[in-house]
Amino acid sequence: MKFTRSLTAAAVIAAASASTATHATELEVTHWWTSGGEAAAVAEFASAFNATGNTWVDGAIAGSGGVARPIIVSRIIGGDPMGATQLNHGRQAEELIEAGLLQDLTELAEAEGWADFVNPSGLLDSCTLDGKIYCVPVNIHSWEWIWLSHQAFEDAGVDVPSDWFEFVEAGPALEAAGKIPLAMGGQGWQQNGAFGVLQYGVGGVDLWRQVNVDKDAEAAAGPEMAKVFEAAAAARELAKDSNVQDWNQATNLVITGQAGGQIMGDWAQGEFQVAEQVAGEDYTCLPGLGVNEIISTGGDAFYFPKLDDPEQTAAQLELASLMISKPVQVAFNLKKGSLPIRGDIDLSAANDCMKKGLEILAAGGVVPTGDMVLTPDTQGQMEDLQTEFWSDLSMTAEEAQERFVDIISDAD
Ligand code: GAL
Repeated sequence: MKFTRSLTAAAVIAAASASTATHATELEVTHWWTSGGEAAAVAEFASAFNATGNTWVDGAIAGSGGVARPIIVSRIIGGDPMGATQLNHGRQAEELIEAGLLQDLTELAEAEGWADFVNPSGLLDSCTLDGKIYCVPVNIHSWEWIWLSHQAFEDAGVDVPSDWFEFVEAGPALEAAGKIPLAMGGQGWQQNGAFGVLQYGVGGVDLWRQVNVDKDAEAAAGPEMAKVFEAAAAARELAKDSNVQDWNQATNLVITGQAGGQIMGDWAQGEFQVAEQVAGEDYTCLPGLGVNEIISTGGDAFYFPKLDDPEQTAAQLELASLMISKPVQVAFNLKKGSLPIRGDIDLSAANDCMKKGLEILAAGGVVPTGDMVLTPDTQGQMEDLQTEFWSDLSMTAEEAQERFVDIISDAD
């Protein structure tokens, strides 16, 4: 049967549910969720999809998004598409959409009223290009956190800091107690992510927008931004003995009390949960580094490459519908440590840190992430700069800032 594009989303789903009555449709789903917390979360998606009679074929790609994204993109462009894939919502899929390689989900989104419950609405905008919706947002992940180990500060005989500046001051005491003040993995995306958090925390929201949204080279070269680079140099010094690679290895240094803190997105929560640590008792989370009450609405979404098999296309739409459904949103986000993309669900089981995030979200303390306003190419250049800055201790904050200004000047 030739699959006509004119079938409505609802009819396609109806066909899917009918088809699952006859046999399971397999979908290969790619993602980069391989840490303990991430694996526990993605298992919620898989079990929900398998419960429909379809089959989730797990395509986990080890390593960070920086490793997985090129693999995912080249497979789709190269004609070897998966059934569904995780990417960060924002501009990462722009070229794939423009090449006509991804499923348009607009009819499904309109049939289910996504615009009525996705919160904040900007998340759906990050899945929309030229008025059409190409991804299903599944969570809100905010980079804007620092995670602090109660054990490490207790061993060092200092109070758990209430903001970044107190954290820096506690550095010597932590080192004297044999602790790594700041845990940091040796990968550019982690260092660049932390730099973005320092931009918001030390430079402020307005400066971040001037530099990253307006691409204002003068602001990037200015004295306020110089303070951000000085903070990055201080962070580099505090992390000089953090000899780990992956983000969750750095999180484990905090969980085990070997390190005082880690600037990392709230996917780190999933690791604390797997380690059965309790927010407020074993660790403290400071949104906006304790300086600004903000969270960034970064996060994950699933995209669906166009396939010529109507049953697989129907299964794709069924999976998209499942991922945004209330029960799956609760089950997935509680395990992932992220915030749900719906404002209409009960998250009473959320822990103190997630509740802090939800309160900030409700108060409108929402800011964009680099993924949403910078192209993957610009992000890559920034990550390369941070990799160099963090590995070459002779590189000064001033030199790094000069290179940063060049990147912003060329950014589109
Ligand atoms: C981010 C993603 C998170 C988490 C993190 C570390 O890009 O949004 O879900 O996977 O990478 O791998």
